[in-house]
Amino acid sequence: MDKFVIDGPARLEGEVAVSGAKNAALPCLAAALLTAEPMRLTNLPGVADVRTMQKVLVHVGATVEAGPDAVTVGVPKILSADAPYELVKTMRASVLVLGPLLARAGSVRVSLPGGCAIGVRPIDLHLAAFRKLGAEVSLHHGYVEAKASRLRGADVVFETVTVTGTENAMLAATLADGTTRIFNAAREPEVADLAKLLVSMGARISGAGTATVTVEGVEALHGAEHEVVPDRIEAGTYAIAAAATRGDVVVRRCRPEHLRALTTRLAAIGVRVAADGDVLRVRAEGALPAQDVATAPYPGFPTDLQAQWTALATGLDGVSTITETIFENRFHHVAELVRMGARIRLEGRRAIVEGCRLTGANVMASDLRASAALAIAGLTAEGATTIERVYHLDRGYSRMEEKLNALGASVKRVSAEAGRT
Ligand code: UD1
Repeated sequence: MDKFVIDGPARLEGEVAVSGAKNAALPCLAAALLTAEPMRLTNLPGVADVRTMQKVLVHVGATVEAGPDAVTVGVPKILSADAPYELVKTMRASVLVLGPLLARAGSVRVSLPGGCAIGVRPIDLHLAAFRKLGAEVSLHHGYVEAKASRLRGADVVFETVTVTGTENAMLAATLADGTTRIFNAAREPEVADLAKLLVSMGARISGAGTATVTVEGVEALHGAEHEVVPDRIEAGTYAIAAAATRGDVVVRRCRPEHLRALTTRLAAIGVRVAADGDVLRVRAEGALPAQDVATAPYPGFPTDLQAQWTALATGLDGVSTITETIFENRFHHVAELVRMGARIRLEGRRAIVEGCRLTGANVMASDLRASAALAIAGLTAEGATTIERVYHLDRGYSRMEEKLNALGASVKRVSAEAGRT
């Protein structure tokens, strides 16, 4: 298990290029299962979750030709319409194969993902949507089994906004008989990106990116090429790191319009944020005031940036309250930040953060975004911070240590087994 050793404090300065969005790449890869023709994705992020999804596709019968930031996936025939526990347990988003396999193969068997570090995260809403589309869904021995000779279009109403649930319903509905309307759909840019790919494959979808998505089922889909949308969470992480280190960072190849919830809050505390096309420049200096944030589905403040904002808040003047409304247990980074000297009190779903100076310490990454928060804290802290278990970080960030070092940080990856750097 690799670790990071960060020598702080650092002031980030320079340019960083954002990779394609992990959370768009995963459903786009799953979409390859809907057609026998090859599909090519470009701007693919080099992250572990994308490699895991490729393994799931190969298990199902896909051939995968992967380049450095692109992949061609062909699934001429479904050999095995299932996703076993060994693959699903490492990545919950494997459940995204449920919709496409059900639509194309007529039956599917996928392991239930179970709990994860940030909460229970059931998939009951995905299953209710498949039932609405006419599938028979049952649970046996920890597996979901779903069957339908052909899905039928229907009205699907999500009682809670669910990102992968919306994507799964959309994927399944593309080949259904008739029209599906998805109400209270997730409006995340990654949902819109998946719809863009599906439309280029011949699907008939409107409204993706709004709360109501309409899918008119078609008989078959064909191959396509698609460039994955830039990762707004990666971009946001570097923007927060720039503010936390009172740096001056130009974030390239991003979509500033997908980051408004963050950039308005950064601007509110006096961080200078300038957007120009696909470039975002973030500059900060001196003392900055505390600022409350509460997470919400898009276009609200992303839960996937909550941990990073908590790290930033430890260096703001005064008391910030951070409220997590999406996941019930997403504050694992707090105990680790406290090890670095942070003054944070947890009250249910709220973290109350009093600004102070951090000092380097040994800390443990518990999940993907918590790891990014610890990296930001390590950049601002006085002295060395060692972050154990950075495999969590590698699930969703491409070459973070290289990107930070190019901005003037000192981050060393140490391979624990070999003691190598
Ligand atoms: C996706 C993102 C993840 C992000 C999250 C919220 C991907 C691959 N992952 O996860 O990075 O943190 O959106 O923005 O895109 N829920 C249910 N039943 C369900 C489905 C969800 O109760 O069937 C609940 C969840 O427990 C959670 C809330 O709904 O409390 C939202 O979760 P959801 O949007 O589904 O998250 P994911 O799609 O898993």
